[in-house]
Amino acid sequence: MGTGKVGLAGPAFPALGLGCNALTGEYGPADKTAISTTVRRALDLGVRMIDMAGAHRPGDLERAVGKAIRGSRVLIATRGGLRFGAAGEPAGADGRPGALARACDASLRRLAVDAIDIFYLAGIDPRVPVEESVGGLGQLVDAGKIRYIGLSQASAEELRRAHAERPVAALALEYSLLERGAEAAELPTARALGVTAVASRPLARGLLTGRISSVDHLHVDDVRRDDRRFQPENLEHIGHRLLAAQQLAAEKHVSLGRLALAWLLAQPGVVPVPSTRDPLHLEMDAAAVKVRLTAEERDRLEAIFPTGSGSGAARRRDDDLTPGR
Ligand SMILES: NC(=O)c1ccc[n+]([C@@H]2O[C@H](COP(=O)([O-])OP(=O)(O)OC[C@H]3O[C@@H](n4cnc5c(N)ncnc54)[C@H](OP(=O)(O)O)[C@@H]3O)[C@@H](O)[C@H]2O)c1
Repeated sequence: MGTGKVGLAGPAFPALGLGCNALTGEYGPADKTAISTTVRRALDLGVRMIDMAGAHRPGDLERAVGKAIRGSRVLIATRGGLRFGAAGEPAGADGRPGALARACDASLRRLAVDAIDIFYLAGIDPRVPVEESVGGLGQLVDAGKIRYIGLSQASAEELRRAHAERPVAALALEYSLLERGAEAAELPTARALGVTAVASRPLARGLLTGRISSVDHLHVDDVRRDDRRFQPENLEHIGHRLLAAQQLAAEKHVSLGRLALAWLLAQPGVVPVPSTRDPLHLEMDAAAVKVRLTAEERDRLEAIFPTGSGSGAARRRDDDLTPGR
């Protein structure tokens, strides 16, 4: 596997992580045992970074991941700093230092670890200057509760301001062949500051596998039914691009998803974190590290998916902080 690094000073690790969204039931029912079996299998396959959030099914995910990783050397990345609505659903960012400290303590308890490797600010709270939120995270570093500070969905300017307050090691941003908007400002800023870019939704929530051509393919409880990426006009808009990329995938004897992950792995300073609840898909994704792309193949893919060819959904940063998205 190629290597990623946590910021400038952190440890190096294999550059493909595991996201956990698909294990939470967001994308249709996931077997109760899927979290532990998937995490353990990922570790067997050489994955050394698990990316999650404390808000999922009030902590079930962190509890299960905490059990599955016990005794293993793996980087744990989780998020905190959300407000919740009456039914316990995420209802926006809460970047107040006190709220972040409470979220961190709750994650530490659920994961049953002494310290969290990367603790992300789940979102940028418009009511709290980012310096104040990051100052709060800095206190958690000083207290030994977290090792590195992460930001999620921050703009380049917010990243710069935050980094000037306390070193930020990781920036989680949506980045995939279908959502390349971060290349304009956030990615170059992260690279210039030595901040690792953690590519969220690296398969564009499954679209880049080429297996979802209709919203009807999604389970009735799948939150993607409300995502504009999966609406007929967008599916029609990207269909010919997916076919063109599938052609290249076929020439290379790999799946489209693996090709899309290999493209991300070829970007300097980028760590993709695909999620899956399917053991076979996990193996296919992990094998992306073995796919080598020539400069010509990368150019070809980038011409198929020029910036702006996706739905633009990645630019709507509140999507992750509101119910059902
Ligand atoms: N604000 C933030 O910081 C933020 C926001 C969103 C996401 N994230 C991170 O990004 C991670 C990944 O995001 P995501 O799960 O939304 O999107 P994703 O990884 O782009 O796509 C996941 C979907 O792709 C499917 N899939 C994966 N591998 C496949 C394969 N080989 N063949 C066919 N289908 C495959 C999965 O279905 P199967 O289960 O059927 O395989 C799942 O439905 C999250 O877990 C989280 O860690 C962070």
